[in-house]
Amino acid sequence: MMSLRFHFYILVLYICIIIPTQCLGNICLPKEHIALFIFGDSIVDAGNNNYINTTTDLQANFWPYGETVFKYSTGRVSDGRIIPDFIAEYAKLQLIPPYLHPGYERYIDGANFASIGAGALDETRQGLVISLNAQLNYFNNLETLLRQELGEKKAKVLLDRAVYFFSIGSNDFFVTINSNTSLLQSYSKEEYVNLVIGNLTNVIKEIYKKGGRKFVFLGLGPWGCSPLFKALVKPGNTGACLEELTTLVKLHNKALSEVLPKLESELKGLKYSTADFYTFLSERINNPSKYGFTEGKIACCGTGPYRGTPSCGGKRSVKEYELCENVNDYVYFDSGHPSEKAYQQFAELIWSGTPNVSGPYNLKTLFEH
Ligand SMILES: *[C@@H]1O[C@H](CO)[C@@H](O)[C@H](O)[C@H]1NC(C)=O
Ligand SMILES: *[C@@H]1O[C@H](CO)[C@@H](O)[C@H](O)[C@H]1NC(C)=O
Ligand SMILES: *[C@@H]1O[C@H](CO)[C@@H](O)[C@H](O)[C@H]1NC(C)=O
Ligand SMILES: *[C@@H]1O[C@H](CO)[C@@H](O)[C@H](O)[C@H]1NC(C)=O
Repeated sequence: MMSLRFHFYILVLYICIIIPTQCLGNICLPKEHIALFIFGDSIVDAGNNNYINTTTDLQANFWPYGETVFKYSTGRVSDGRIIPDFIAEYAKLQLIPPYLHPGYERYIDGANFASIGAGALDETRQGLVISLNAQLNYFNNLETLLRQELGEKKAKVLLDRAVYFFSIGSNDFFVTINSNTSLLQSYSKEEYVNLVIGNLTNVIKEIYKKGGRKFVFLGLGPWGCSPLFKALVKPGNTGACLEELTTLVKLHNKALSEVLPKLESELKGLKYSTADFYTFLSERINNPSKYGFTEGKIACCGTGPYRGTPSCGGKRSVKEYELCENVNDYVYFDSGHPSEKAYQQFAELIWSGTPNVSGPYNLKTLFEH
């Protein structure tokens, strides 16, 4: 132990003295260090919803969530690691815990503000999630703290070089399904998509003002074909995807792909990557064996048709659930969320993949330049 600790101090000394550094408290890192800030929903939440007043519908801090890797349930909605965990690893950062985790202060690596169920609109699950605007407020608080602790100059370097990662929008569309109270009642589909994109654009512009230049956006997945929403398709239509959701998701992805080049030309120095989650997941749902899975349509954990009832863990309104034997056979872990294996494949692709998967830049390029 002593000797390990001794070597650690020598390493820290070496890093702090020999290599040009940034230090926060007693943590020092090389100048090329690039932080990762994460905003969004259940696809990227590492457990912020463990710390807010919400319902178990919007939490995953119970067995069997997280079991593959962490040996306890961290709040990640999968059997193990999620996309940001892999990206942090490839970028040689430490695992980034939820921002609300008490005692987390390693902000030099970035922070994860994401919240299960959150959308870009404040109305989406209001009071039960950390909305995108509330996540931005947390980021603003952190930015103030970084300026105090690192000084203006170093904080600016950290924020300018950081990568800002977004997975948002899906929930704004989910809440419209079978609802007669959603905002979609008062807008056309196109107008509603424009509200979602408008709010996201606003957040991008705020982060840009603070120095942010590198942005990553996960396109929305083919959620109409997820076990959760396939299970909602009217009886007699077995096997079909939920078309009204597919329509919204496609409209959103198209609008996103149109607004980003505009922002790039409007905001000098902005670089971005959009990741094609839709094609990635569709390919695996339809051809699981081509990608090392045996089941693309049924979830590993849940109940009912496709195990599409979100009862995984038995802590929500439906208490019964089935759990598959080998999660590595499944594209979907629970009714709405991919398995760690699927996430890992996607993370590898967006890290170093070609522009049709992750473009115009892939993540490796964003982290290196
Ligand atoms: C948490 O939510 C419950 C139920 O909505 C409410 O009764 C309680 O006051 C809330 N607690 C806090 C601290 O907001
Ligand atoms: C709208 O929602 C209310 C309250 O949940 C419900 O009673 C009513 O039947 C719904 N109306 C329609 C047309 O779905
Ligand atoms: C953001 O969404 C809200 C509805 O939640 C809407 O009233 C507002 O106009 C939107 N803002 C932008 C900039 O589009
Ligand atoms: C990207 O292009 C490659 C060939 O260049 C193809 O094999 C792959 O399926 C494409 N992926 C997506 C997500 O479109």
